[in-house]
Amino acid sequence: MENPFKFGTIVEEEYFTDRVNEVAYIKEFVRSANHLVLISPRRFGKSSVVAKAVKQSGRKHITVNLQQATSVSDLSAKLLREFFKVHPLERVRHLITHFRVIPTLSTNPVTGAIEVSFQPSANEVILIEDVLTLIEQSHTGNDRMIVVLDEFQEIKDLAPKLDKQLRSIMQNHKNINYILLGSQESMMTDIFENKKSPFYHFGQLMRLGKLPREDFHQYLSARLSSIFPDRSDELADRILDYTSCHPYYSQQLAANVWQMGVLQPGLEKPFEAAISQIVTAHGLDYERLWMNFNRTNRWILKTLAANKPLQSGGHSTSTIYSALKRMQKDGYVIYSDRYELEDPFFREWIAVNNE
Ligand SMILES: Nc1ncnc2c1ncn2[C@@H]1O[C@H](COP(=O)(O)OP(=O)(O)OP(=O)(O)O)[C@@H](O)[C@H]1O
Ligand SMILES: [Mg+2]
Repeated sequence: MENPFKFGTIVEEEYFTDRVNEVAYIKEFVRSANHLVLISPRRFGKSSVVAKAVKQSGRKHITVNLQQATSVSDLSAKLLREFFKVHPLERVRHLITHFRVIPTLSTNPVTGAIEVSFQPSANEVILIEDVLTLIEQSHTGNDRMIVVLDEFQEIKDLAPKLDKQLRSIMQNHKNINYILLGSQESMMTDIFENKKSPFYHFGQLMRLGKLPREDFHQYLSARLSSIFPDRSDELADRILDYTSCHPYYSQQLAANVWQMGVLQPGLEKPFEAAISQIVTAHGLDYERLWMNFNRTNRWILKTLAANKPLQSGGHSTSTIYSALKRMQKDGYVIYSDRYELEDPFFREWIAVNNE
C-alpha cells in the first residue's frame, strides 16, 4: 500500500487539502490587472496553493523558482524555456529576432522540450528584459499571462541592483500578472514593505497561514483509518497538537506514523515511535545547528521548547527581541500567534537533550 501522505514537494490532487478560500482569492485576483505577493514561513504551502490556483484559472502561466537560477542569464534562459512550453516557437520566432542577445535553442530529444541558453553577456539585465518583453508582447490586456516567480527573495543574491532593474522593467507590463512568492518573512517584507525598496507596494500582499485544524484533521484521520481503524481520530489530534497544524511537519509526522503501523502492526505507541524515529534521523543536523548558536539563542530556544515565558533568565528585553528577530529571519523561529520553534522535531531534540 502506498503511503497516503506527502511532504517536501508541491502537493496537488489527493494530497492537497483545504485552501479553498485562498485558491478562490488568487483566481479572482488574477482577473484584475494587478500583481500578487504571497508570503509565509517556509513550507506552509505557498507553491502548492499558487500552482493549484493558476492551473484552475485556465490562463496561460509559467513558473520559475529563483532559487534554482544560478545567475541572471540562467534565470532568463529558464523563463524562456518555460515560455516555449506555452507558446510554440514558430509563433513567436519573429519576436525573438528583436533580442539584443540571441539565445541558443536546442530540442531535447527525450522530452521534446526546447532547451535555452544565453552566451555570457556583459549586461545580463538586457537578457531578462528581452525575455519579459517577449512575454508582454505575446499577450494582451484581455489575455494576460501569469508569471509566477517563486522564492523571489533570491533576487537580492542573484546580482547587485537587480531588484531595482527588474522593478523598472516589470512596472511597464500590462499584459502580465506577476505572482511573487517567498519565504524568510523578514526579507520578503523588506522587499515589499520597505519604502526604500524598489518593490515597495508593487502588488497586493497576501499572507498564508497554517491549514485550518478541522479540515486538516479530517484529511489525516481519513488516511490513517486504513491502518488504525479504531484510533485514527485520536492520532490525527495528537499529530496536529504536536505540529500546531504546520502543513509540512503534520504530513511528515503522519507519513511516519502510518509507516510504523504498516511495518509493526501490533505496536502500541506508533505516535511516539514515529517522533523518535524522525528526531533520531535528524540528530546529527540538530547537534551541528545547536553548536552554532550562541548562549542567548540557546537559552531562547530552550525556553521556547519548554513552552516557558521569555521574560526571565537575566537577558534584557531588547537582547531577547533582537535575537528572536534574527532567528526568525533565519527560519528557526516563526511567529503566527506567538513565537515558536519552526521545527517541532528540533524542539523535541532540544527538550530531550537539555533535561
Ligand atoms: N494544501 C495542503 N494540503 C496538504 N498538505 C499541504 C498543503 N500545502 C502544503 N502542504 C504540505 O506542506 C509541504 C510544503 O508545501 P509547499 O512546497 O507548497 O510549501 P512552500 O510554502 O512553497 O514551501 P517552501 O518554503 O519550501 O517553498 C507539502 O509537501 C505538503 O506536505
Ligand atoms: Mg515553495
